Amino acid sequence: MRIFLAPMEGVVDAMMRDMLTRIGGYDRCVTEFIRVSERCLPRHVFIRFCPELLNNSRTPAGIPVYLQLLGGNPAIMAANASKAASLGAAGIDINFGCPSKTVNKSDGGSIILREPERVHDILTAVRAAVPSTIPVTAKIRLGYDNTDTLSAIADAVESSEINELCIHARTKLNGYKPPAFWKQVATIRHRLSMPVIINGEIWNSSDAKMAKEQSGCDDLMLGRGAISFPDLALSIQHNLSPEQPNGSNCQTYQPLPWQDILLWLQNHSQLSHEQVPKYAANRTKQWLIYLKRQYPEAAILFEQVKRCRTVPEMISLFQLSSSAISHSAISSA
Ligand SMILES: Cc1cc2nc3c(=O)[nH]c(=O)nc-3n(C[C@H](O)[C@H](O)[C@H](O)COP(=O)(O)O)c2cc1C
Repeated sequence: MRIFLAPMEGVVDAMMRDMLTRIGGYDRCVTEFIRVSERCLPRHVFIRFCPELLNNSRTPAGIPVYLQLLGGNPAIMAANASKAASLGAAGIDINFGCPSKTVNKSDGGSIILREPERVHDILTAVRAAVPSTIPVTAKIRLGYDNTDTLSAIADAVESSEINELCIHARTKLNGYKPPAFWKQVATIRHRLSMPVIINGEIWNSSDAKMAKEQSGCDDLMLGRGAISFPDLALSIQHNLSPEQPNGSNCQTYQPLPWQDILLWLQNHSQLSHEQVPKYAANRTKQWLIYLKRQYPEAAILFEQVKRCRTVPEMISLFQLSSSAISHSAISSA
């Protein structure tokens, strides 16, 4: 089983990839999508989305980062994929999943799923433009407004000879609403000889187990779950690993305590403040909202920081909260 960190625009940037891959359990990351429309983008754009290109396309913890492209013109997608490869991308991923109206209007993302032959043309052009040593992967949904084209999409992907396919088990119309239809993926798995990765609605180890069983996929991609539960990948690796050699079950995984998460939060918001000051405060609040799902303490902290305008204001509240926890640990010892 391999576990991949999902691309998430505005959420999973290089700093988030760095933090989550340091915490561990991930085998690969994918950048936020880079929109490709009329031309070959300049180097600085690729570096902005994927600063890891300056580190052999790996996070500081050594995990490979694939660069994701989104667009509808095969020749232009191919030219950009070739450029990304020449800059050292560990792999190229093509986005056919984005549901955004703006993106779909400009002929990119999930709208292309309505025309499986275009999926084929884009992937074939990209595969041909990139050296065979560099993997090309694609990320799709089950379809646009229904799953009628799913088999044709699977055949289009298979004949393009790319390396792997990730399926977010919902249509564009389903958006991000639960459930994810993992079983639907099993209906087309036999059409594909490449590894297929299951994605959607995996928040804990038992979801991971069911997603694997119902889809028939071995590998997983984690999106919102990874942000809500920063050591989710470690937890899945631990809980789904085969039994210990002596036959006894592994002990249940203990998620990182809130105190540790608080330290990651301080670190991450400080880094964001230094590197993307314009977005840092909102991104920190956004992360706290995701963390509420796993940690009740995040909900309390969110109420305290929600009116803060700057990261330094938030960090002083995080420090207060952190020292209150240490103080109560000392007094109860
Ligand atoms: C805020 C947000 C941004 C996203 N950005 C991207 C993106 O840039 N590229 C992409 O392929 N998918 C993107 N996705 C979709 C996720 O990669 C993933 O497929 C989806 O969230 C389902 O997985 P989950 O249920 O584990 O979150 C995004 C999802 C969210 C919620």
